[in-house]
Amino acid sequence: MRVLGIETSCDETGVAVYDRDAGLLAQALYSQVDLHREYGGVVPELASRDHVRRLTPLIRKVLSDSATTPAELDGVAYTSGPGLAGALLVGAGTARSLAWGWGVPALGVHHMEGHLLAPLLEADGPDFPFVALLVSGGHTMLLEATNVGEYRLLGESVDDAAGEAFDKAAKMMDLGYPGGPAIAAQARAGDPGHFRFPRPMTDRPGLDFSFSGLKTYCKNTLRDCGGDAATDQDRANIACAFEEAVVDTLVIKCRRAMKETGANRLVVAGGVSANKVLRQRLDEAMDKQQVGVYYPALEYCTDNGAMIAYAGALRLAAGEHEALPIRIRARWPLAELRAPGDRATG
Ligand code: KG4
Ligand code: ZN
Repeated sequence: MRVLGIETSCDETGVAVYDRDAGLLAQALYSQVDLHREYGGVVPELASRDHVRRLTPLIRKVLSDSATTPAELDGVAYTSGPGLAGALLVGAGTARSLAWGWGVPALGVHHMEGHLLAPLLEADGPDFPFVALLVSGGHTMLLEATNVGEYRLLGESVDDAAGEAFDKAAKMMDLGYPGGPAIAAQARAGDPGHFRFPRPMTDRPGLDFSFSGLKTYCKNTLRDCGGDAATDQDRANIACAFEEAVVDTLVIKCRRAMKETGANRLVVAGGVSANKVLRQRLDEAMDKQQVGVYYPALEYCTDNGAMIAYAGALRLAAGEHEALPIRIRARWPLAELRAPGDRATG
């Protein structure tokens, strides 16, 4: 089974062709970061319009790179939520039209299931069951995954997502957009002992997260350093304290989740899973608990078409497909998903 996958939920246009026998055949990504940079964040209407411009050429390129003709495709998978409604509609409309024209089934994929399954694209990917830490710009959650589509929510952020906190803290310090890589780069020049930020919600039981207080901590510390007059070293020290606090909090909650579930595999995915300090600290902590940690390849941590093609192929192979109405969901709890083939089509 060969599937074209399309991702347009936010500010990345991603397209890929995945073959269940031969693996990932081609993928291409167009990132809109330059377009949104001057606004310090994603502008939804600009995102939708740019997806319209980029999507068709990317589809042509990926079909050509994978030497795939439409007749060789068995389905088209696209992100149908959660995400920006206008951006989702561009991918959904294009995918559904192509599938209709080519006479193959189409399937809407949950964006976070795409992230969660991305480590399975690797040759040494994890088997089920596992615990998953999903850390992206829109979501931070811990889940127990017993199989594809069988996800139990263990905890989630009660306010900002981890990536969102990175983005907001970076904006505050004029470090640029997207904030995660900007803070990480700045933090390298920082002194980890200079400031210490709190590890929110780690002093009480439970697996929920809260990151919005760290943003306030950044703001106040920056003000104490003179605000706009803060030096580059001040900013690096704040970035370092911020990154340490987010990473440490995530590690503490993962340790707790592994103990509570008794699982011995941890999957970490979503944009923030590209963070090197997070990877290093999690590897060290999980090694002590005899837990194996699995990440996607760096290029599949942030949004991409490969994870959507992969998740779509799994579900299309189980006979799932959409009925005629085109539906997208800006909000969509991951725990509502069912095993492949187990949901009413459409
Ligand atoms: O998964 P993703 O591409 O999009 C969403 O589904 O939200 O995640 C994007 C988020 C952004 O908030 C970005 O700042 C963050 O991932 N991110 C990072 C790193 N690379 C991307 N955060 C921390 N460290 C990084 N190296
Ligand atoms: Zn994402």
